[in-house]
Amino acid sequence: MHHGFQLDTSVPDYNGPLSPLDKTAFRKSIPVLGLRVPATQTGSILKSEVARKYLVGIPKVRPVVPDPSAPDDETQRLVLLGLNREADIPQEFLKFLKAKGDDFDFVPYELILNYDHWTASEILQAILPKELREGAPTGFAATGHIAHMNLNEEYLPYKHVIGQIFLDKNKYIRTVVNKLDNIDTRFRFFEMEILAGEQNLVVEHHEADCRFTFDFSQVYWNSRLHTEHQRIVDMLKPGEVLADVFAGVGPFALPAAKKGCAVLANDLNPNSFKYLTQNIQDNEVTETVRASCEDGRDFIRAVFSRVATSPFPPYMGPKPSKTKARKLEKEAKKSGSAMPHDDWPSTKPVLPQSRNTIDHFVMNLPDTAIQFLDAFRGVLVSHSLRPFYYKMPMIHCHCFTRELQQDEAVQDIQRRVGEKLGHPITEDVSITLVRSVAPGKDMYCVSFRLPSEVAYCVEAPDGRISKARDTSTFVSVDQLD
Ligand SMILES: C[S@@+](CC[C@H](N)C(=O)[O-])C[C@H]1O[C@@H](n2cnc3c(N)ncnc32)[C@H](O)[C@@H]1O
Repeated sequence: MHHGFQLDTSVPDYNGPLSPLDKTAFRKSIPVLGLRVPATQTGSILKSEVARKYLVGIPKVRPVVPDPSAPDDETQRLVLLGLNREADIPQEFLKFLKAKGDDFDFVPYELILNYDHWTASEILQAILPKELREGAPTGFAATGHIAHMNLNEEYLPYKHVIGQIFLDKNKYIRTVVNKLDNIDTRFRFFEMEILAGEQNLVVEHHEADCRFTFDFSQVYWNSRLHTEHQRIVDMLKPGEVLADVFAGVGPFALPAAKKGCAVLANDLNPNSFKYLTQNIQDNEVTETVRASCEDGRDFIRAVFSRVATSPFPPYMGPKPSKTKARKLEKEAKKSGSAMPHDDWPSTKPVLPQSRNTIDHFVMNLPDTAIQFLDAFRGVLVSHSLRPFYYKMPMIHCHCFTRELQQDEAVQDIQRRVGEKLGHPITEDVSITLVRSVAPGKDMYCVSFRLPSEVAYCVEAPDGRISKARDTSTFVSVDQLD
């Protein structure tokens, strides 16, 4: 049961300037009673059920403090109570103390709460005018050291103070930004304004055991895609080759490489390319990830012959962790051998062949990725490529749809993909809801095996489809629907 005494711990109303915030204005003095006790008794008092009912009980406030009248006296302590008048002390508590002996007395104590005591939301509520309190921002998304949010217009006059409070109250945050509504239509990064903290938008962010560095104001990054990145990487088998058409700074490419895949990662944004290159180095996957900076369509058309003429080396099995590698090195030194012969890099590759074909494409540019699919028409027409592809690559293509019913969304996506390829997709097709991006707009990923009819078809420069000579697998796209 509560003892019925309530201390007023609410944040004092704030009337000071918004910029800079006057933090001293939040100082609040709360008179309470201290129970002076021998230091040896504090433990048993704090544990007692009766006494616990009357302790100060304010979150983050320690109930036992040194006695201010004798701060150096180690033998005395004050136990702070949630009462401020001796007359209010209940009989049951006095009885409890009496039973313990005579060494107790009550003294007035000034408990001070300040800016650091209250949560960001509590401080914000005290600052904002009444009409803005209800819808006030309650949190933010964090990427590396940056907190980012999307403030509604009515909060803009308070943007810097909001930034300041979030900065003060979160020790991992060093910069607070407001994302403006302008998104760069081509490269998908947001315009943003720094509200508080360091003027530094280059973040270091960790996802899937990889370290990503990038300038948040120059490249695309969305931490909400984490599970989608993971889902796609889970579909890849170690040793396979992935072509990432819209790679950004590498959230598919690098985890895939760590898993043992070889990756061709492309992005048209020169800044994405710059950080992608840095991330490849930082994650020590330079041997298996190749970065490029070109239009997705050109990349798709070039990448098949690129990997055929410069294959990736055979897959050597999982790379040992750094600690394991160090241990192996030590053991090797001890035993005098160059490298332990039965471990990585093994003399016997897990997959003996060099890797000259592509197993998967990922195309995460949901606004327009489907528009790029026609680039696959005829990609394997060249005679030199044909013998390599006894199995067509899988394509994982992200897209949006306005069809909110799953069945209709699936039909809509399948139709649009088929139209762009010039051939229906039938093999290994799966269509997965990734997330709802806005009211009335869902993001999906359609996975399918590239129809060989598309890869082997020939398109004349004037757009007419004609039959590729001497190939039995050829089907003209005209004949297909
Ligand atoms: C939605 S982001 C995805 C980035 C990354 N794959 C991820 O999951 O975070 C799309 C990327 O495509 C890049 N991009 C846009 N248009 C492109 C094009 N025509 N060719 C290649 N890349 C393009 C953008 O710069 C951006 O990095």
